Amino acid sequence: MTNCDRFYKELNSEQREAVDTLEGPVLVLAGPGTGKTQLLSVRAANIIQKKDVLAENILILTYTNAAAKTMKERLARIIGFKGYDVQVGTFHSFANSIILDSEEAANYI
Ligand SMILES: Nc1ncnc2c1ncn2[C@@H]1O[C@H](COP(=O)(O)OP(=O)(O)OP(=O)(O)O)[C@@H](O)[C@H]1O
Ligand SMILES: [Mg+2]
Repeated sequence: MTNCDRFYKELNSEQREAVDTLEGPVLVLAGPGTGKTQLLSVRAANIIQKKDVLAENILILTYTNAAAKTMKERLARIIGFKGYDVQVGTFHSFANSIILDSEEAANYI
């Protein structure tokens, strides 16, 4: 049993359904503290394992820096040091990096 399997087993059936969806969008509507971050972390780990996707090719956007930090820590707990290769950041920092990388976008500032 992999570490990812262990975390998967702790999820409920709705969370597992989201984690098992390896292709396409999944909308998760859930209240505070109900396991959204956990399921997203396990889903990313599952995609990396089952689809042979490189961790650095996964992008996870959050609203707050605190949530991004939590996500990175969870990923590292589930898949080890590779978890730190996943691109995790806030919407704002991601959008800012695009603007900084793009001469065309910079013209609109
Ligand atoms: N199905 C579950 N059964 C029991 N505990 C769970 C389950 N899913 C998640 N948890 C645990 O519940 C706690 C809160 O989970 P998590 O941080 O993922 O929730 P969240 O919805 O992202 O919270 P927030 O709204 O604060 O961002 C964590 O300790 C997590 O391991
Ligand atoms: Mg959360």
